[in-house]
Amino acid sequence: MPDVLTTANGNPVDNDQTSQTAGEWGPVLLQDFHLIDKLAHFDRERIPERVVHAKGAGAHGYFEVTHDITHLSKAKFLDKVGKKTPIFTRFSQVGGEMGSADTLRDVRGFAVKFYTEEGNWDMVGIHTPSFFIRDPSKFPDLIHTQKRNPRTNLKDADMFWDFLSLVPESIHQVTTLYSNRGTPYGYRHMHGYSTHTLSLINDKNEIHYVKFHFKTAQGIKNLRGHEATKLAGDNPDSAVEDLFNAIEKGDYPAWNVLIQVMEQKDAKTYRWNPFDMTKIWPHEDYPLQPIGRMVLNRNPDNFFAETEQSAFSPSHLVPGVDASPDRMLQGRLFSYPDTHRYRLGVNYQQLAINRPISGVHNYQRDGAMTVNGNQGKGPNYGPNSFDGPQQTNAYGTTYVNVALQGDTGRFPFTLTEDDFVQAGDLYRLLPPDEKSDLVDNIAEHLSMAKKEIRDRQIPHFSRADKEYGQRVADAINKRLSQS
Ligand code: HEM
Repeated sequence: MPDVLTTANGNPVDNDQTSQTAGEWGPVLLQDFHLIDKLAHFDRERIPERVVHAKGAGAHGYFEVTHDITHLSKAKFLDKVGKKTPIFTRFSQVGGEMGSADTLRDVRGFAVKFYTEEGNWDMVGIHTPSFFIRDPSKFPDLIHTQKRNPRTNLKDADMFWDFLSLVPESIHQVTTLYSNRGTPYGYRHMHGYSTHTLSLINDKNEIHYVKFHFKTAQGIKNLRGHEATKLAGDNPDSAVEDLFNAIEKGDYPAWNVLIQVMEQKDAKTYRWNPFDMTKIWPHEDYPLQPIGRMVLNRNPDNFFAETEQSAFSPSHLVPGVDASPDRMLQGRLFSYPDTHRYRLGVNYQQLAINRPISGVHNYQRDGAMTVNGNQGKGPNYGPNSFDGPQQTNAYGTTYVNVALQGDTGRFPFTLTEDDFVQAGDLYRLLPPDEKSDLVDNIAEHLSMAKKEIRDRQIPHFSRADKEYGQRVADAINKRLSQS
């Protein structure tokens, strides 16, 4: 038997198909609460889409510890081999809107919420191991260039390449993005990375810097540029559909989780600044160590409630896992909860998908959409003598201690030849057919930009690798001469 249809205040509805009118030919009556409430609720259905990563797909699953790392982290969810922690994962595109095509060339988001017994840890990563920029002040500008031109409301090759050509430290990420990795077949067939350096803290309060890698067990599968373009038209939701269907039929996607580990004392002397996210740590220097496995085995029952309302933040941390001095990461620690308060409201952590399974006990009260009983009759201030929740030092150090000296100030990264080395290494590593695809993909887009912008960008490719720059220049000239 289906449920009786009700109004939002629970009254049985006699008729959901015909509005109340003043006679057969008359206007609609204001007293028809059900009609007015139905329309008014509909009018308010949309919340702001994420300012970036608007289009995405989510899935539930678990993380299982496969290797002991208690010498590195005191996090409870990592304390035993075989231990499983429930997770919610959201994959996404970055630049497009809610309705954009899944196969457009873009970085993919790779966000994982671990519901641990000590609160939620969010690993908010992407599918590439490096990034375009290394200072958070540049992020809004970077994103504006990948969105729409303020006048034409069109995507704009001039904006895109103008910015990147003026920010040459982006060359490594540009090389990754224009390789076929920039057009993954779907979410199941790509790796995920913290990209940032994070920190693990053990029970002796020792700190290690780490990078997290999620390696797809399905194998990497990318599209070539023309395949991605075709699929964008044939099935713009191909990645969402691929993930949903695989899980629905029991073909659960999995990722092996590994870390690279750097001793804190080595950070200052390592060749690359470990907090500069335009760089990777080569595996020869810091080999991958397996720690666990992530499996996605349940589709959300409701897209809006779970995927759309999910709110990930790099500042949602647990004892034993912390941030690092990476400037970009520091900017993100602020930005995510800030945007959640705007997008979902001040009580976004009370929504079912975001609620920690470990419980929340504090003195925060009230605010729009308080849905957790507002912590009942307990005291709403601390310290108090009424048995309210108390702070604890049982976890020891829970944030990274860094010895600091010097004056406050603005200390820009200086561009050096070193900023081009990893892009060149990546180019030289690609097999011949993928090198050609990379060059073609760049030429296709960069040839749409103005000459002075092209002339500024091409030398960056040459600085990474002479042949790389020459081939891009030749491919652009060929395209322009044919057009
Ligand atoms: C989403 C800001 C860099 C990964 C977002 C959102 C904002 C934001 C405001 C929307 C969140 C929401 O509405 O729920 C920033 C800022 C950055 C930055 C200010 C730099 C200073 C990065 C980097 C990565 C990253 C470097 C990865 C290494 C993600 C992911 C999402 C996201 C995966 C989507 C999360 C989800 O699925 O809900 N970012 N971002 N972002 N960002 Fe960033």
